[in-house]
Amino acid sequence: MNALLEVKNLYVDLNLPAGSLHAVRDVSFSVEKGKTLSLVGESGCGKSMTAMAIMGLLPPSATFRADAITLDGKSLLGMTEAQLSRVRGSQMAMIFQEPMTSLDPCYTIGNQLTEALTTHQKVSARKARDRAVFLLEKVGITGASSRLKQYPHQLSGGLRQRIMIAMGLMCGPSLIIADEPTTALDVTIQAQIMGLLAGIQEEFNMGMILITHDLGVVSRVADDVVIMYCGQVVEEGSITDIFTRPVHPYTRGLMACIPVPGKTEPGGKLGSIPGIVPTPIGELWGCSFRSRCPQAGPACADKDLSLVCLPDGRAYRCARIQARGLSHPETVWDDPEREAN
Ligand SMILES: Nc1ncnc2c1ncn2[C@@H]1O[C@H](COP(=O)(O)OP(=O)(O)OP(=O)(O)O)[C@@H](O)[C@H]1O
Ligand code: SF4
Ligand SMILES: [Mg+2]
Repeated sequence: MNALLEVKNLYVDLNLPAGSLHAVRDVSFSVEKGKTLSLVGESGCGKSMTAMAIMGLLPPSATFRADAITLDGKSLLGMTEAQLSRVRGSQMAMIFQEPMTSLDPCYTIGNQLTEALTTHQKVSARKARDRAVFLLEKVGITGASSRLKQYPHQLSGGLRQRIMIAMGLMCGPSLIIADEPTTALDVTIQAQIMGLLAGIQEEFNMGMILITHDLGVVSRVADDVVIMYCGQVVEEGSITDIFTRPVHPYTRGLMACIPVPGKTEPGGKLGSIPGIVPTPIGELWGCSFRSRCPQAGPACADKDLSLVCLPDGRAYRCARIQARGLSHPETVWDDPEREAN
């Protein structure tokens, strides 16, 4: 099957006074039509920068390179800003964490929704308005026609996020990137919005990249998962692989931090990953997780680690697992002979 989105060997550097910050390093993944891929990792691991590079919305201080970024078979690399803007207005859209940073307080919801369509496509104002009403109803907003006259500050956070979802859908994109779409909302609204987004993604057969810290959300909506650490992909696989047979010590650490029904004792203590994520400035070598990894050994510091791809579609980046060359690497940490590496 041809992927809807293909990202190959993406690097993003931020030029800061302190030096070059390697925000994204050698990131590759693909998203299939109608499927959800979740980008997961601690704060600062490069999730948003990856999304911004795909959208062509990196800050001016950033430089990037990639072997390929293709959407529906068309390369986005080398496009002019005008060409990219057309793709953003028709084939891909992004929903940001905090709607107030994306909605203009000076314009009505109606203005902003219809402009998202009329700027990019030859559509009459009437048709744009009809689509805005249709989508507001789809995202569960009642009295949609009258909402069009309201300004963002007149709406609650949950309503504003629903409007952002509707705005993302105005042009009928084939790819939607949702960057922490619910973290600014309270828990009950979060669940509603995530359910809504997943339903709409399925109904419109869109590919979706869902960026989130919340492994509970990931387990409910993702088909595939990419785990990032310090700008790199450390593990990727299907939702079942990641949750039932994680390989990389970081992924295993993340899994130990969440309660598992039937496994975690009621009132039992959850795990944690001690230490903090290093800032990837200057020259980098070896595994970036080694200062926190319970399995770290001498080989972890001197290897230039590549992502090892397994025939079943899983991939991991770990010197010690790679040295063992196992076809079922999830068993590596259960094997007492591992100390030999
Ligand atoms: N505007 C900026 N100026 C300087 N550094 C930045 C800027 N934006 C991001 N960074 C740095 O780039 C790296 C990647 O940041 P990014 O925003 O992609 O992380 P993230 O995974 O999205 O984190 P979060 O979960 O907190 O949103 C981090 O080290 C971050 O500090
Ligand atoms: S390479 Fe070494 S430090 Fe990194 S995850 Fe593997 S065992 Fe841990
Ligand atoms: Mg982010």
